[in-house]
Amino acid sequence: MCGIIGITSSKPVSSAIINSLRKLEYRGYDSAGIATLSEGVINEVKSEGRVENLEKNSAIKGMLGSVGIGHVRWATHGIPNTINAHPHSSETVSVVHNGIIENSTILKKYLISKGHKFKSQTDTEVIVHLITEYLKEHDLKNSILKMLNQLHGSFALGIIFKDQPDLIVGARRGSPLAVGYGPNENYLGSDSYALKSMTNKISYLNDGEFCIIKKDHVEFFDKEGSKVNKKVLELSTDEQNYEKGDFKHFMVKEIEEQPTTLKNCIKEYIDTINNDINIYNFPWDLKEISSITLIGCGTAYHSCLMAKYWFEELTKLDVTIDIASEFRYRNNRFKKDNLYIFVSQSGETADTYAALDLCNKNNMKTCSVVNVIESSIARDSNFVLPIHCGPEIGVASTKAFLGQMLVLYILILKLASLRKDLEKNKYVNKIKDLKLLPKLVAETLLTETKIQAVSSTFTDAKGSMFLGRGFSYPIALEGALKLKELAYVHAEGYPAGEMKHGPLALIEDGMPVVVLAPRDSYYPKTISNMQEVIARGAKVLLITNKSKDEVLSENIWETIEVENTNDDLLPFLLTIPLQKLAYYSALKKGYDIDKPRNLAKSVTVE
Ligand code: G6P
Repeated sequence: MCGIIGITSSKPVSSAIINSLRKLEYRGYDSAGIATLSEGVINEVKSEGRVENLEKNSAIKGMLGSVGIGHVRWATHGIPNTINAHPHSSETVSVVHNGIIENSTILKKYLISKGHKFKSQTDTEVIVHLITEYLKEHDLKNSILKMLNQLHGSFALGIIFKDQPDLIVGARRGSPLAVGYGPNENYLGSDSYALKSMTNKISYLNDGEFCIIKKDHVEFFDKEGSKVNKKVLELSTDEQNYEKGDFKHFMVKEIEEQPTTLKNCIKEYIDTINNDINIYNFPWDLKEISSITLIGCGTAYHSCLMAKYWFEELTKLDVTIDIASEFRYRNNRFKKDNLYIFVSQSGETADTYAALDLCNKNNMKTCSVVNVIESSIARDSNFVLPIHCGPEIGVASTKAFLGQMLVLYILILKLASLRKDLEKNKYVNKIKDLKLLPKLVAETLLTETKIQAVSSTFTDAKGSMFLGRGFSYPIALEGALKLKELAYVHAEGYPAGEMKHGPLALIEDGMPVVVLAPRDSYYPKTISNMQEVIARGAKVLLITNKSKDEVLSENIWETIEVENTNDDLLPFLLTIPLQKLAYYSALKKGYDIDKPRNLAKSVTVE
């Protein structure tokens, strides 16, 4: 998704802006651009495609100016080309923008009637002309206030001005925005990651706020224009995790580091000596909670679905789950004794944030399970459970999925034990099993060769299916999603028992079908469903767990066996071969694995 960077300094800023744009590449984008102010003139350079293309642009060399803004764009209004790339400028101002201006058509009509000429197809350009118009009669702060008042939708903005040699304005509604503090220079960024190479001192803008950044001073204002005091936060300076090291892609690095990330997370929550779970400062009395709603998008939604199965198995709580983009617009029944759990790796997904905001506005109990603890979702939830898995750079989520499932499982076990839904000895045994999980994931990661061999069948297929029942069903959905997003192969995740109600018609000779059938209580049923697809010509890749008993079925194309653990934890192990299947399928096709086409890591527009 779009990314913003701004720097005001006493030295030229263009190369530092380009370096930071490179840090934002992981978000997924289709064009990039930069604007600086030099001797009272705004210069703009933009390119289609990667930041690399921008760097190669001859106009960038020797680009002067000690104040500037840069942007990576993920197209919403207007095709991805150079004209539509940001920044957008008039003679007076230059603007970079994340988000969507919903009333841009009406504003454009008004501005055209005032004589403004538009160059691009973007919604962003109305912001440029609005400020240009207001600056004719108002000072800078009032022009910003008037412009912000006109905009509908969600956005983060970075703006430089012809007449302000060391000043950047940042503004936020919906989309996240951070300010960084450096030595005799200050920064604006759409996330702290972009700023980390320059500073670890950060402040975040709250919704509706704007800021005026000068190289030696930053002021923050609320939506009425009154000054706001801000805390300066110190972020950890650990840069190591942001590098690929010897790995070819971030995705494979993130898959391989899962034993470590799980171990780190277990260390944070599990008292290994007493076999107990520590969740400190849980703000509610258990009597206050009789039901749970879990909300997320994409992979995070799949971990919500997984949690529903565990909640129902281990507690007596009522549980519903929801896709954030649906929840936020439905006529929900808000219940005082319901706990709303928001799951998000980035903590910035626009729909998940909006769903949280809606719950907060209705005074509901809100808890978030996030990776980025400085994120908007974490900051605005009543209670936060971090997943402690370090930065995830690959657009397709892998280690965060396991981290989300782990934290949700830990929460469920703790609630089950406190509510006395789960007997003490069972609770202790499940914790003991949990402690072994990182080692089992490490061993399962070794099932490499077979996956590489089968991946070409998926790469060449017209379509594929991923089937599972019970605890394996959410994993089937996640496996199908991974293959779609990385290898661009049509893949459907389905409950195995539902095949005969329609999708069986899709099975034809040679179609690859992944069947997740660990030896849990669903095993015999799933094996029957597997036979039904084999009988119709499917090439079945069976993923099960190790056992001395043979699988009682004929004509299985290939079998992959994961390690053994209790039924609750098998989903973690089943996920591993599916992540690798998607990775190798994309690798065979030579696709951009860490930045799949059309997708973004942090989806900050709805
Ligand atoms: C995007 C990413 C997915 C992710 C989803 C939700 O679509 O590509 O990998 O699962 O957003 O993101 P979140 O940060 O809220 O977990």
